[in-house]
Amino acid sequence: MKGIILAGGAGSRLYPLTMVASKQLQPVYDKPMVYYPLTVLIASGVRDFCLISTPKDLPRFRELLGDGREWGLSIEYREQPRPEGIAQAFLIADTFIGQDPVTLILGDNVFFGGDAFPRAFAEFKSGAAVFAYHVTDPQRYGVVEFDARMRAVSIEEKPVRPRSSFAVPGVYLYDNQVVDIARSLKPSARGELEITDVNRVYLERGQLQVYRLPRGFAWLDAGTSSSLHEASAYVQAIEKRQGIKIGCPEEAALWRGFITLDQFEQRLGRMPNCEYRDYLSTVAAEARAGRLPYGVPRAG
Ligand code: TTP
Repeated sequence: MKGIILAGGAGSRLYPLTMVASKQLQPVYDKPMVYYPLTVLIASGVRDFCLISTPKDLPRFRELLGDGREWGLSIEYREQPRPEGIAQAFLIADTFIGQDPVTLILGDNVFFGGDAFPRAFAEFKSGAAVFAYHVTDPQRYGVVEFDARMRAVSIEEKPVRPRSSFAVPGVYLYDNQVVDIARSLKPSARGELEITDVNRVYLERGQLQVYRLPRGFAWLDAGTSSSLHEASAYVQAIEKRQGIKIGCPEEAALWRGFITLDQFEQRLGRMPNCEYRDYLSTVAAEARAGRLPYGVPRAG
């Protein structure tokens, strides 16, 4: 499965923070925001990435993530000149996707808890799979409605009167039909190729699987100053209490087997003396003792 990280957009709600660095490069507590979605996909077994951002910001992402080799990944980069919709990513990345299935994750979504994503990725065969998460403000998102047997029956983008409290977070899995579906879309009233329209096509074809994320699972979107602060506070609270890190690509790459323990230790040896390196040292010591890091779902 190929992976797209969509990290463009205007970031206007975070102005003036976003004057010189894009939203997805801002810190969420102790790491750049893009580390979190990157780690989610690594933990779900994705190795082959395309990161899409604005022409202005793309060089900074390249500087931060490189070609991905340090994590046992391949990362390529493509420009989105204007924010013309999430679904435009499939047109920008069509040659990257080729004939493969593809997952898209938004660069400003922070997730934590459980193994819902790795399980959905392992189960995925065809069609599309998205997730549903109970929120207080569904009208800000794509909203999915279920029938009495918990099958998805409708999906609407930013409805004025939401039919349920279940929003669709920014992780989507698709088979290769998605490229043709994206090509067939017309821009919405706000001038964007809507990801919700892609999902609706799959729903109408009877090929949309919707997984409900459980209670206690965290989905934070870091698009406003206060939600960015909340995401940082959440990450800090969990990390401090549990002594584990959220959104650490090295750790996910190690337990997924994308890098060896030797490569992991070489990478941490090149880091400056910092808390992040101290953490990786404890992970390495655990791994040398043959123990999986606490709280990571077992690979495979
Ligand atoms: P939004 O939060 O809807 O938009 P934004 O990031 O441009 O922020 P603002 O509303 O404050 O101006 O976008 C959600 C995510 O999707 C975010 O990570 C940016 C990304 N995105 C793109 O990369 N390209 C696009 O065309 C769109 C619509 C969003």
